[in-house]
Amino acid sequence: TDLAAFAHGLPKAELHLHLEGTLEPELKFALAARNGIELDETTVEEVRATYDFTDLTSFLAVYYPAMRVLQAAEDFHDLAWAYLQKAAAQGVVHAEMFFDPQAHTGRGVPFDTVITGYRRAVVRAQDELGISAELILCFLRDFSAEYAMATLMEALPYKAWIVGVGLDSDERDNPPTKFAEVFARAKAEGFFLTMHCDIDQVGSIDNIRAVIEQIGVDRIDHGTNIVEDPSLVALAKERGLGFTTCPVSNSFVTAQMKSDEIVSLLNAGLKVTVNSDDPAYFGGYVGDNYVALAEHAGLGAADLVRLAINSFEASWLTASRRADFI
Ligand code: HPA
Ligand code: ZN
Repeated sequence: TDLAAFAHGLPKAELHLHLEGTLEPELKFALAARNGIELDETTVEEVRATYDFTDLTSFLAVYYPAMRVLQAAEDFHDLAWAYLQKAAAQGVVHAEMFFDPQAHTGRGVPFDTVITGYRRAVVRAQDELGISAELILCFLRDFSAEYAMATLMEALPYKAWIVGVGLDSDERDNPPTKFAEVFARAKAEGFFLTMHCDIDQVGSIDNIRAVIEQIGVDRIDHGTNIVEDPSLVALAKERGLGFTTCPVSNSFVTAQMKSDEIVSLLNAGLKVTVNSDDPAYFGGYVGDNYVALAEHAGLGAADLVRLAINSFEASWLTASRRADFI
């Protein structure tokens, strides 16, 4: 449709994207072959058949084991480069991309290997696609705060390649305050801060309150349960906090797109953005997410433009670079 073509062509920033969540089955096979790794599945269809998610936990149970095909810096480069090419084809002119170093260092791949490979793709995207990209280091919240702090220390020599830090993985029993000290140190080091507040978690609204009032984040990933507390919505608006929503991902991990919540926050004047989260697993890149939300919620071109403008306003681009886009 015309609106779909418009959504894909609209220049936009993507702010909620897990690089490890862009591992398409075809690339998984290629990397497994290159690294001499045997996989349980032999066809793309067999791999896709394992993508039977009912919640965040069942997704994560497929997401982490797949990463073992990522071994050398070249593998991390190839993963990020494949994503950046697809993103550029869907209108992305700037991407702030999460990576999960502990999912690799925890199985013996050095931090330097991971970030060197990803960084090479970032530089290549600027050179060959003319788009900018940044890396956001995510800590895995189901591991200890001490391990997160050690990972932050390991990252400090690469500070120039990392724009911010985030928090992902299983939120249950792993509240934001568990990482208060790590995030305070990251802030003191000059990193921007964001944290996942996943959809419909036990204690979602308390976690959202904590990330705003205690952690002092610059953005919230997902976070749409904030609709439950109008006073927090007002506070988020006053602070200009960005919300990185992921409609297609929501449909997988909760069986609902949460479009009412997304649109209500957008119309309340919050800096709501639309993103793809883990596109290889959920089957939609960022333009597809704009289209899915537009179709489901009956949005028009003006709403999509507002979402795209929000994506630059909620980005961590410098003011002068931001001015190139809006
Ligand atoms: N939530 C939590 N952890 C994740 C996600 C997510 O959406 N994607 C990859 N790791
Ligand atoms: Zn996410």
